[in-house]
Amino acid sequence: MRLVLLGAPGSGKGTQATRLKEALRVPHISTGDLLRAAVAAGTPLGQQAKAVMERGELVSDEIVLGMLEERLGQPDTRAGFILDGYPRNLAQANALDALLARLGQPVDIAVQLDVDTELLIQRIAGRAQAEGRADDTPEAVRNRLRVYSDQTAPVIDYYRGRGKLACVFGVGSMDEVLQRVLGAIGAT
Ligand code: AP5
Ligand code: MG
Repeated sequence: MRLVLLGAPGSGKGTQATRLKEALRVPHISTGDLLRAAVAAGTPLGQQAKAVMERGELVSDEIVLGMLEERLGQPDTRAGFILDGYPRNLAQANALDALLARLGQPVDIAVQLDVDTELLIQRIAGRAQAEGRADDTPEAVRNRLRVYSDQTAPVIDYYRGRGKLACVFGVGSMDEVLQRVLGAIGAT
C-alpha cells in the first residue's frame, strides 16, 4: 500500500501514520521528521532548513525532493509506504508522481484528515507545552496554517481529480480516527 496522508498542521498525520505503519506493515516517511533529524544533526541541509522551518515556511522543493528520493530508494519501501508531510504544493505533487512513475510504484490513495482550525490550534498548543517543538510558537503556527491553505490545500484537489482522494473526519479519539482511515482505504 502506497499512501499519502494529507492534512493541516495538527490534523494528526504523524499520530495516524505511527498507527497505520503497524496495521499496514509499511514504513512511515515524514519529511518533517527527516528535516528535524537533519537540523538536530547539524548537517549542511539541516543548517539551511532550520530558520525556514522555525518561521513555519516551506523548505525548498529541491532540498525536500532530494531527501525523499534518497529515502524512497531504500529497500524497505518496496512493500509500500505512508508519506506524511509530502507533497505540500502542486510542484511537489507533480514531482512525486514523476518519481514514483520512474520507480513503477504509483500512489494508491491519498487520505485527507479533516479537522477544524480551532481544534488544530488547541492540539498544537498542547504539544507546544508537552514537547516544545521549535515551530509550535503562535507566530510559526499562524504561518504554517496560512501556508497550508495557500499552497497545500490545492493538493487535495490534485488527488481528487485523479480519483485517488479519501476524506476522513479527523476529530474523535486517535483509535476512532484510525478505524475511519482503515475503512476509507479498504484495509479493515
Ligand atoms: P511537519 O513536521 O510535516 O509538520 P506539520 O504539517 O505542520 O504537521 P504537524 O507535525 O504539526 O501535525 P500532524 O498532522 O503530524 O499532527 P500530530 O499527529 O503531530 O512539517 C514541519 C515543517 O517542516 C514545515 O513547516 C516545513 O518547514 C518543513 N517541511 C516538512 N515537509 C515539507 C515539504 N514536503 N516541503 C517543504 N517543507 C517541508 O498531532 C498534533 C497533536 O495533536 C499531537 O500532540 C497529537 O498527540 C494530538 N492529536 C493527534 N490526533 C489526535 C486526536 N485524534 N485526538 C486528540 N489529540 C490528537
Ligand atoms: Mg507531524
